[in-house]
Amino acid sequence: MTAGKLPDKAWSGRFSQGADPAALVFTSSLAFDRRLWRHDLEGSAAWARALCRAGLIGTDELATLLKGLEAVGAELESGGFPFRRELEDIHMNIERRLIELAGPVGGKLHTGRSRNDQIAVDERLYLRDVLRHLDDGLSEAQRALLGRAEEHPDCCMPGYTHLQRAQPVLLAHHLLAYVFMLARDRERFMDCRARVNVMPLGSAALAGTAFPIDREALARDLGFAAPSPNSMDAVADRDFLLEFLCHAAILGMHLSRLSADLTLWATAEFGFVEFSDAFATGSSIMPQKKNPDVAELIRGKTGRLYGNLQAALVTMKGLPLTYNSDMQEDKEPLFDTVDTLEAILKIVPPMLGTLTFKVERMREVAGAQYSTATDLADYLVRKGLPFREAHEIVGKTVRYGLAHGKELSELSLTEFQQISPLIDKDVYATITVEASLRARAAIGGTAPEAVRRQIEAAKELIARGRRA
Ligand code: ARG
Repeated sequence: MTAGKLPDKAWSGRFSQGADPAALVFTSSLAFDRRLWRHDLEGSAAWARALCRAGLIGTDELATLLKGLEAVGAELESGGFPFRRELEDIHMNIERRLIELAGPVGGKLHTGRSRNDQIAVDERLYLRDVLRHLDDGLSEAQRALLGRAEEHPDCCMPGYTHLQRAQPVLLAHHLLAYVFMLARDRERFMDCRARVNVMPLGSAALAGTAFPIDREALARDLGFAAPSPNSMDAVADRDFLLEFLCHAAILGMHLSRLSADLTLWATAEFGFVEFSDAFATGSSIMPQKKNPDVAELIRGKTGRLYGNLQAALVTMKGLPLTYNSDMQEDKEPLFDTVDTLEAILKIVPPMLGTLTFKVERMREVAGAQYSTATDLADYLVRKGLPFREAHEIVGKTVRYGLAHGKELSELSLTEFQQISPLIDKDVYATITVEASLRARAAIGGTAPEAVRRQIEAAKELIARGRRA
């Protein structure tokens, strides 16, 4: 068949009637899968080379195909590509245009291939690129957190459990907690890359290609670790994509919690941080307002990341093997998650970098409200009391303090000794914020020395991620 006589649809031989216009619109994925064009071309060029290696096309035909694919790529790049919705998806749009530009040899490209293995390879190539960018974005966010931690090595603040003041901690300790969360996110994405990096091409529709394709060579050509071992699994599998969406949801959760912390800290009630004007917004009615919109929206957008994972999981559930058109619905959640993560990771470093930490205010409240009560109990333990008894005694001390409007450090030695004769005047030195911090010197603790070690460990992790 010559290019001029091509029917509207690639499968029209079997059909006596064209598609209903509503069905055409309904089944088309072109509006969203067009963004896979680069990867579709990359997979197609490799497939053409595999066909040539298998002796199915000559080297001159290969050259024509590759030149044609390049010409199609140039049109797509420049915006001059004639998209046709009636051709359903990006694969058939590219193939049709290839035939128009390269001639009938273009019709040989789909030999031994199906859109089922084609879309699977496109998605994997796409995700491989995404994972690379994402790792850069994540390390930037880590660096931003680490930078702020290093700027404030001594700033102390109240640490919270149940959102109640619990024990003093270093601000750097709190910020580093997020650096380590992001390190796990990076590890998860790296892990997932191993399963993304498997090549489905050559699985054809489901049963495997009927031509003598060297799939090992093809995998090498595309930079994949190996060809998929089972063609039915290969065209039915979207685990790699679900895994990605899941890791993205967890990453979103981390940054959402960071945003929740910062939003709370920016309230007058906390007063621990102030957002830069550049990363806050005003109110259309209340002139005095300064709202932490950027942080709120990082938190808010995490909802979409969860929704995308849920949508893809539910789409896959209950699908009989192998490929089903339901799977076309995997792309919008995937792209939305990628776009959302990119947007979030772009805004996090400058938002963090321009934040003002109100260190005096943090310091002022770090020791308030009996935050060193545990240190008093530990003091009694060092004097030989079992911890449970010490806990009870300190609980009573706090009750006494509350009744008399006194913090622990404001109690006189006589008052202390009425509570326990084990208490001596050295108690005052152990219930300061500094002493409380210093005491927690074990690995991972909030002592300045322990936090310094965490900074070193974090730097090492960030650098190692880069090299992986
Ligand atoms: N547009 C399809 C998708 O996104 C490509 C694969 C279609 N295969 C098929 N047999 N209809 O999943």
